[in-house]
Amino acid sequence: MITSVAPKSDGTLDPADWQSFRAQGHRMLDDIIDYLEHIRERPVWQPIPDSVREGFRRPVPTAPTDLAAVHDDFMRHILPYTVGNAHPGFMGWVHGGGNPAGMLAEMLAAGLNANLGGRDHVPIEVERQIVQWVRQLFGFPETASGLFVTGTSMANLIGVLVARTAALGPAVRRRGIAASGKRLIAYTSAAAHGCISQAMDLSGLGSTALHVIPTDDQHRIDLAGLENTIAADRRKGFTPFLVVGTAGTVDTGAIDDLAGLATLAHREKLWLHVDGAYGALAILAPDLAPRLAGLERADSVAFDFHKWGQVPYDAGFILVRDATLHRDTFAAPAAYLRRETRGLAAGSPWPCDFGPDLSRGFRALKTWFTLKVHGTDALGAMISRSCALACYLASRIEASRELELLAPVGLNIVCFGYRSAAADEVNARIVADLHESGIVAPSTTTVGGRLAIRAAIVNHRTGPGDIDALVEATLAFGRASETTIQAA
Ligand SMILES: Cc1ncc(COP(=O)(O)O)c(C=O)c1O
Repeated sequence: MITSVAPKSDGTLDPADWQSFRAQGHRMLDDIIDYLEHIRERPVWQPIPDSVREGFRRPVPTAPTDLAAVHDDFMRHILPYTVGNAHPGFMGWVHGGGNPAGMLAEMLAAGLNANLGGRDHVPIEVERQIVQWVRQLFGFPETASGLFVTGTSMANLIGVLVARTAALGPAVRRRGIAASGKRLIAYTSAAAHGCISQAMDLSGLGSTALHVIPTDDQHRIDLAGLENTIAADRRKGFTPFLVVGTAGTVDTGAIDDLAGLATLAHREKLWLHVDGAYGALAILAPDLAPRLAGLERADSVAFDFHKWGQVPYDAGFILVRDATLHRDTFAAPAAYLRRETRGLAAGSPWPCDFGPDLSRGFRALKTWFTLKVHGTDALGAMISRSCALACYLASRIEASRELELLAPVGLNIVCFGYRSAAADEVNARIVADLHESGIVAPSTTTVGGRLAIRAAIVNHRTGPGDIDALVEATLAFGRASETTIQAA
């Protein structure tokens, strides 16, 4: 039975009957809690039937629909066909699993509907509290600034823009880069994420101004190669200004020698930005934190709470050592954003002074709940456990004659393949078969020119049984694929 929770007839969007709305709200809460409680009983992912896809090609609704009916539509046509990253069998790309406390916090934040662009209210104090926690975690000074953003792609762009201000001064915002007469050059490794090149493009510096340095056998930036390239660029009259290190590369989980990069950046007077999209939060795990030594010397760090931090999407973060430079990169006076020393317009500087967004949601709340409810010790233990599971997967691969490891396992990412004369074709098929089976969902990448099955163990729900399921299903699909190819 559908209970009517129609909006009021007074022109507002509030329900006419709060009692029925409350009952419907409780049903919705129960349904999503059931989803999480029983997620293991579902497939990780399943193909979207054409009829379901068609349902999302309808004209804009001009008339109202009962909330219960819309929720029913959600339960039948949206919930079963998501990417599946809350499921313990999800191992693709780098997706966090979310967590129930964070989910509830997101609902509370939506109820408050706070806009964290600025003004004087406690939601901004919550964000400032997290900035302070992040400084503390990464060993940054009390004067460092921080900001929630969508994700690390945006955080890296902010890092590049602040580095540009450091190199050319705030006047670059008005005069543009060309007025400086300088050719600014940035450096990163061949294993860096594509959003670094995109950040160079978006910032007007140009993606060809990013010089890509080869990696060593552990997929870390080659420091000697970096130093030589910088020297050669200086001889050509270029202006090196930025080096981007990675803490946890997207393909293999390699961590650059951050201490070595910090020393080199200091000597060469370059801005050191670290892309720690998922790897930076390994700082919470006592056994992994020493591998991030040098991070505390970076000028800026980008990372996501929504990856290894398990905060529901999205919750990216940028931390900048020099808050003044950070502010000088974005703050723009406007009459309608005038600051006061009292009243709601007090509390300057505002978050909008540190990034391109003026309207900003309350991402800090789900992060605050997640950190408080679980505590950093438990989050650190979960991060360590992901790495132990990656080692377990590597040991199972090494114990199998049919499988091979394609990259060293340094963190939580395992790149491997099914041995075959037609390996790339077979491994691509295996991954599609795994997805369609609903058992596990790894992704693919290319390592050393070869297509690899890539399992990134990020989800806090993943356990040894899921690793076993990945290995068994890969072997089964690999054998079947070989037979199909041979028969063809
Ligand atoms: C190393 C690295 N950098 C940047 C990103 C981009 O992060 P986001 O998807 O949050 O923008 C990723 C995403 O996986 C990543 O692994």
